[in-house]
Amino acid sequence: MDSVVLVELAAISKSYGGVRACRNVDFAVRAGEVHALLGENGAGKSTLMRVLSGDLADYEGTVTVDGQPVRFHGPADAQRAGIAMIHQELDLVPGLSVADNIFLGREPRTRLRTLDRRAMLRETRNLLRRTGIDLDPRRPVGDLRTGEQQLVSIAKALSLDAKVLIMDEPTSALSVAEVDRMFTVITELRRAGAGIVYISHRMDEIGRIADRATVLRNGSVVAQFDAREMTAEGAAEAMIGRPVQTMFAHDPAAQGATLLEVDGLVVPRHRSGRRDPAGISLTVRHGEIVGLAGLLGSGRTELLETLFGAGGSWRGSIRLDGKPIRPRSPRHAVRLGLAFVPEDRRISGLALDHSVLANTVLSIVDRIARFGVVSRRQEMSETTRMVHDLRVKLGSVRDPVSALSGGNQQKVVFGRMLLTEPSLLLLDEPTRGVDVGAKAEIYQLLGRLAEGGMGVLLASSELAELVGVCDRVIVLRGGQNVAELPTAHAGEAELLAASMGEVVPL
Ligand SMILES: Nc1ncnc2c1ncn2[C@@H]1O[C@H](COP(=O)(O)OP(=O)(O)OP(=O)(O)O)[C@@H](O)[C@H]1O
Ligand SMILES: [Mg+2]
Repeated sequence: MDSVVLVELAAISKSYGGVRACRNVDFAVRAGEVHALLGENGAGKSTLMRVLSGDLADYEGTVTVDGQPVRFHGPADAQRAGIAMIHQELDLVPGLSVADNIFLGREPRTRLRTLDRRAMLRETRNLLRRTGIDLDPRRPVGDLRTGEQQLVSIAKALSLDAKVLIMDEPTSALSVAEVDRMFTVITELRRAGAGIVYISHRMDEIGRIADRATVLRNGSVVAQFDAREMTAEGAAEAMIGRPVQTMFAHDPAAQGATLLEVDGLVVPRHRSGRRDPAGISLTVRHGEIVGLAGLLGSGRTELLETLFGAGGSWRGSIRLDGKPIRPRSPRHAVRLGLAFVPEDRRISGLALDHSVLANTVLSIVDRIARFGVVSRRQEMSETTRMVHDLRVKLGSVRDPVSALSGGNQQKVVFGRMLLTEPSLLLLDEPTRGVDVGAKAEIYQLLGRLAEGGMGVLLASSELAELVGVCDRVIVLRGGQNVAELPTAHAGEAELLAASMGEVVPL
């Protein structure tokens, strides 16, 4: 049965300077469907959806809503036509509260035209409950974790009551339970006749939620699938234009002596005031990849930030190669041989308006400077090698980072950290927003690094990633380690999901 077409894009083309981000793309959204938009990093997905959501006015082609051609001059225009978008790089205002962000520019008023705070807070609480998050609507958004901010953006989009909802990687920092909750919301919207465009690099999600999928490669549509005929392999092959090689390849045999020993680490938690006396205890050996699983607020990010000297106060002990350490600052941590890829690119130290080259040089300067001078040639060759190894899609290493697509920015964050040649690599959602092809490459690279003796501590909310990449997975909850699973025996992602539930064997 063919249902009503809500919006239609016809022959859309968009260039940024010399870069053709979209070429002659046709795309439609029907009532009651979840339409997945797939493609490698830089394929043009966000660009196409920014045309539909009124964010880019300068394009060729036609946008049709309810059979009428339209031209939006801003997101407000598109919202009036019933189209809302959750952006990949969240556009919340950090200094404002959750409620203020949700109602920004359309605050409810009392009869006397003053701000109706009570209505705002009440409505915000309802929206947050729908998305399944327990948050005080008065908290500043800047204090929230990336995953919590994603849920706030989703709540904000829901409040617009759109008939077409575009979700650009809405779950990249969410873990299983939060994704499940969000899928329930999507199912309700679909039943109510809304059309949803869903962009994600998590192929398992596409299989679960999408009714059909369109695949972009280099700005053009290269395939369309119906949910029934779509396989993860088929979709991935259409995206990257060749079959994906093995996703995971790591030989866990080569482990050496203990590299990291954390004992009774307690970090004051900013959510509950409750202090947990047991804290986190774990070890990582040379050559070992240890996974960290847990829901939002379980303490994964706090642990990694503390190890990297980027957290607040803490107690407990940390040893590296047997020596007690107290990382005071990220700089100090780098000198100790640690490197960190944070979940939020905006705090990763990337200078967006500087070139890829300049950003990379910052992280290698300490290592390759000889007699205080860094050779230009070496800067260039190391950067070029990194860009090549990770297949970063860019015009030139002199392009500003801001001109790269989201996933390609993430590859730069990852690549520049590796150039510091750490002995312990701390990763918080390192493949967030990274496409399948590049994920496979990052996993293989991690395997090679571990075989070379590096230790890796990897926090991820993607179960397939934890099971596929790690030698063991430690489950955190409420700032404590509550379970540990050797992935060789766990195998099935379901087992991990179960271990995150209420009853946990230790
Ligand atoms: N503001 C910009 N200035 C210059 N080039 C840009 C800009 N935004 C995007 N591009 C380029 O347009 C192309 C498409 O980018 P887009 O962000 O649409 O990709 P994407 O499919 O969303 O990728 P990802 O999965 O990494 O988010 C890329 O080559 C990118 O470098
Ligand atoms: Mg994008």
